[in-house]
Parts: sequence; structure tokens; C-alpha cells
Amino acid sequence: MTDVDERLRRWWDEDARTYDESPSHALGDPVEAACWRAALVRHLPAPPASVLDVGAGTGAISLLLAGLGYDVTALDLSPEMLSRATRKAEARRLRLRTIIGPATGPPDGPFDAVVERHLLWTTPDPVAALAAWRAAAPRGRLVLFEGIFARTRPLDQARNRLTNATRRVQGTAHDHHAPYDPVVLDSLPLANATTLEPLMNAVDAAGWSNVRVERLRDVEWARRQAAGAVLGWLEHVPRFAVIAEA
Ligand SMILES: C[S@@+](CC[C@H](N)C(=O)[O-])C[C@H]1O[C@@H](n2cnc3c(N)ncnc32)[C@H](O)[C@@H]1O
Repeated sequence: MTDVDERLRRWWDEDARTYDESPSHALGDPVEAACWRAALVRHLPAPPASVLDVGAGTGAISLLLAGLGYDVTALDLSPEMLSRATRKAEARRLRLRTIIGPATGPPDGPFDAVVERHLLWTTPDPVAALAAWRAAAPRGRLVLFEGIFARTRPLDQARNRLTNATRRVQGTAHDHHAPYDPVVLDSLPLANATTLEPLMNAVDAAGWSNVRVERLRDVEWARRQAAGAVLGWLEHVPRFAVIAEA
């Protein structure tokens, strides 16, 4: 593991303690979970296809996939995140294979598809990761679930403060235990992207083809409903699926 990977692992191992307390992380809302399930069914080959979930975390997407009948391998560099995914899979009597490692080091495969949700922004070399996934799924499909999360404009700072204050008043957990390690943040090419273009360029550069984008309006709608009027508006981010073929 590189020094950045090691820092990432430490940060996420710590975050694992509270990660699932944030409502959008664990997909506890049944309507939101059903919207994600619909997106998976829309874009993946039919079960029992083999799917690699990269940056699987506590298993939000992996567990939905396993419940749909997919053969799922969950890759993540944080053992603490993966151990929570394993516990949840056992409690739900679902089969889940877990592998500890960086996004650039997937298992050999071959997989029928590679998915990720909210991982690529925290990858030091997105093109190398996407190329390694293509090698692990040489005839497979890529499905990326992403959003425009960066808040870099002056008004965004006010919005952040208002979001945090509203969460405190409502007793809603913050998404993460601490700000991201600034040394790490500086080395992440996609962390401050304000459009989808840099991500799509990385997908292209890694050799994936027939790239499509779908706005996940149903997921956005479900999240807003679950969060309530004020927080739903404050937290709103555009969400997309990016789909491609090896
Ligand atoms: C925002 S969480 C997303 C987790 C999960 N996909 C979900 O949808 O809830 C990011 C996950 O990626 C993992 N991660 C971060 N950087 C990584 C890297 N470079 N390689 C592999 N995993 C990484 C973290 O440990 C964490 O579990």
C-alpha cells in the first residue's frame, strides 16, 4: 500500500464506527433502497452475474446486489468497513465475498460487471483504477454511481453551515466523523470536481467504451422525501449513473 492508501485506510477505519448512522449511507429508508435496487436492475446484466463492488464500505450496494441474486465480491481498503458489511450479510443470510485492498488492485476475475458508489472521488489515480477494473472484467460492464458533491463556491460555505446547524437541531447524524485528511485531499484528482466531465474523461482514458449517463432522479426524490423538506433541500446533490462497456 502507498502512503496515501495507508492514510485513507486509517481515516475510513475510524469512519466505519459511525458511517451507517448517516441515513443515506446504510440505505435504511425502504423507498430509497428500492430506487437503488431499480437502478442496479436497469444497468447490470441479469443475476446471477458476478459483480465486483469497489469501495464497498459497509455494504450498501453489495447487500442490495446479493439480495437480488448476484454473485458479489466487495473490495475495500478498510477492514473495519468490510467487517461491518460481513456482519450485515450474515444477519440477512446473504452471501458476500470480501477482499481488503486498494481500488487499483482488484482480484483477477473475470467479473461480468464492476460497480462503485461514491468511491472514485477518493481514489488517488482514477484512470489506473478504472483500467484495472477493465482488466478484471474484460467483457463486462462498468456502472458508476456518483454525484456532484463538491461545494467550492462562496455561497456553498453558508449552505454547509446551515446544513450542519439543521442536522444538529434535528438530531440527524453528520455524514462523517471528521474532515478529510488535507494531505490526502490534495492528491485526489476528482475530489473537487464540479461537473461530470473529469470522471467521464477518466473512464475514456481507461479504455471503457459506449459511455452513457443517466440522472438518478428517483434516488434524489427518495432522499429528499426521507430527509424532510429543509434538510432534503439543503443536502440535495445531482446524482448520476455512468455506464460503459469494456
Ligand atoms: C463514501 S464510502 C462509500 C461506501 C459504499 N460504496 C457506499 O455506497 O456506502 C467510500 C469507501 O471507499 C473506501 N475507499 C476509499 N478510498 C479507497 C481506495 N483508494 N481504494 C479502495 N477503497 C477505498 C472507503 O474505505 C469507504 O469504504
